[in-house]
Amino acid sequence: MKVELGKEKVNDTSFIGGLAQELLNHYGSPLYVYNGETLHQTIRHITTAISYPHTQFCFASVTNGNIALLEIFRTAGWGLHANTPGDIYLALEAGFHPSHIVYSGSNLNRPEMEQIIDWGVTTLNLDSIAQLQLCCKVIAELGISNSSCRLGLRLNLPEITGDSRIGVNPADFITALNITNQAGLKLSGLHFYRGTGTNATTAFTKVINTVITAAQQLPNWEYLDFGGGFGYPYHRNGAAFNWLEFGAALTETMNKLGKKIDLIIEPGRAAIAECGTLLARVVSVKWQGNKQIIGVDTTVANLSVPSVHGGYREIISCQQNSQVSHSQTYVTDICGNTTYSRDYLGKNCQLPELKTGDTIAILDVGAYGYAMSSHFLHRPKPAEVLLENGKHRLIRQREDYSILLSNQVSTENR
Ligand SMILES: Cc1ncc(COP(=O)(O)O)c(C=O)c1O
Repeated sequence: MKVELGKEKVNDTSFIGGLAQELLNHYGSPLYVYNGETLHQTIRHITTAISYPHTQFCFASVTNGNIALLEIFRTAGWGLHANTPGDIYLALEAGFHPSHIVYSGSNLNRPEMEQIIDWGVTTLNLDSIAQLQLCCKVIAELGISNSSCRLGLRLNLPEITGDSRIGVNPADFITALNITNQAGLKLSGLHFYRGTGTNATTAFTKVINTVITAAQQLPNWEYLDFGGGFGYPYHRNGAAFNWLEFGAALTETMNKLGKKIDLIIEPGRAAIAECGTLLARVVSVKWQGNKQIIGVDTTVANLSVPSVHGGYREIISCQQNSQVSHSQTYVTDICGNTTYSRDYLGKNCQLPELKTGDTIAILDVGAYGYAMSSHFLHRPKPAEVLLENGKHRLIRQREDYSILLSNQVSTENR
């Protein structure tokens, strides 16, 4: 079977229709589908955009924690950026070596700090002086060799990131250096987080020098970590983050430093958004005046971004073909299969007339899609499928209702 789902192929809707039907018949609906070829292409595009030789890309698995997809990043030579201990747990399961996992998170309690250091993670970017203190204490208590640790600070620069809660201001670097010195450790890294979903490339390129100036205040500076926040163009023809421009600017500046500084780049949504599609079937059609109200067999609990977080995701009809795509479209709301008042997958979409049994595809949901799904509304989560080498395979089982009981303690057993 030929496999091509993705933004470039949107106009080839007869093809999408055939594939979508086949997948839904095989695996059931709704269904998350990931196009492996699209993912490989994106990884190649981002990887080659930054030619600076000491660069390590680390996929931000906060966006998608499916092990089969993490393995694709690992085999492409990427490391993993962990936001939480759970990210690290999944990364280890996906075969990442702890030395290829970079922790850049916030607010771990003591057992969690012990856990991630015990798992062998050695590059840690701390978000506050208190977290740095805790980290140094745990490293000493666990008897970890000083030379195997790379500690860094997350940077807070209000002139760039406004009132972001993240990071430590350079004014506090002296305090941080005292803490690491006393622990016999080096403070060798600086991590810069731009905020999420930034399509304006200049928002990154114009701050490179400021970030480097801050890093140069660390006497043992060895690495710079940039990410995430690299945008993805969810709106067709919308502004897109330009990796080539960013890569050229960053490479030029890094090459001029006169000493070898390791560069870590943490793309999240930019790496994985495009390859994911959520397929669903139409279960109900009604009209309110000229507006088409479509009920589908998925819900915002399966994909919370559009309704709950106000993000836009393009929705297409998989029935469209070259003839139909020229036919009339109607203002259409795509509604989920619950009575929750915010259960909209899309509002005011332009779609042709649909009928019960038709298939719709919600595009670009590889990031913050399944990862943000929940059991809110008490619907089990969809299955996930990977398209690779012309074949499809299940990479996560569809849940059944028993999941709603897991961890519940029945009063009858008391
Ligand atoms: C430190 C860090 N790196 C990377 C990411 C991924 O972000 P994005 O998907 O916006 O690239 C996040 C997201 O919260 C993050 O906190």
